[in-house]
Amino acid sequence: MVEFNKKIKERFSIRKFKSDNIPDELVKEILENARWAPSGLNNQPWKFVIIKDSQIKEEVASQTHYSQIISNAPLCIAVFYDKDVGYNYVKDVQAIGAAIQNMLLAIHNLNLGGVWLGEILNKRQEVERILNVPESFELMAVVALGYSTEKKAKRSRKSLSELVYLNKYDHKWIVSD
Ligand SMILES: Cc1cc2nc3c(=O)[nH]c(=O)nc-3n(C[C@H](O)[C@H](O)[C@H](O)COP(=O)(O)O)c2cc1C
Repeated sequence: MVEFNKKIKERFSIRKFKSDNIPDELVKEILENARWAPSGLNNQPWKFVIIKDSQIKEEVASQTHYSQIISNAPLCIAVFYDKDVGYNYVKDVQAIGAAIQNMLLAIHNLNLGGVWLGEILNKRQEVERILNVPESFELMAVVALGYSTEKKAKRSRKSLSELVYLNKYDHKWIVSD
């Protein structure tokens, strides 16, 4: 349990990477963790495109303010919602969020680093065209990953007392942080 909590808390977004490639077995393990995420009716509405080719990666990078992160990463994984498989937009998107979090935790557990990129959704259709995905695929995120060159980041989170109520909204849940 201590180890589990530690893994979750010590993960942080990595945006700078070494140029070393990531072995396929590790990519497979990351995607294995993604596919075991929960989903409504177990519909598993996710699809993934692994982007390794540097030219395609550059084309995708050019669609976001965070182009440096993508250019710098040896590999990216574009995560899609497959509307042909979906049944409820909110629940399907929540499931895909769970899959992405599983990916980030797997990346961390493999001593790699990664970051969930969402700003690129402003150019969702351009990315979908570059990656040649079918009409039913909607881009949800791009995860950039690689071996980290970053030092431990200073991170913060709101305290539980700012977030949690007991029984009703007018009762704060009092707990020592
Ligand atoms: C939905 C979502 C979208 C995000 N989009 C971006 C992004 O476009 N660029 C970026 O650098 N980080 C992005 N992030 C990473 C967040 O900035 C980061 O998770 C947050 O600041 C907390 O830091 P931590 O991951 O190091 O704990 C995104 C995270 C989420 C969950």
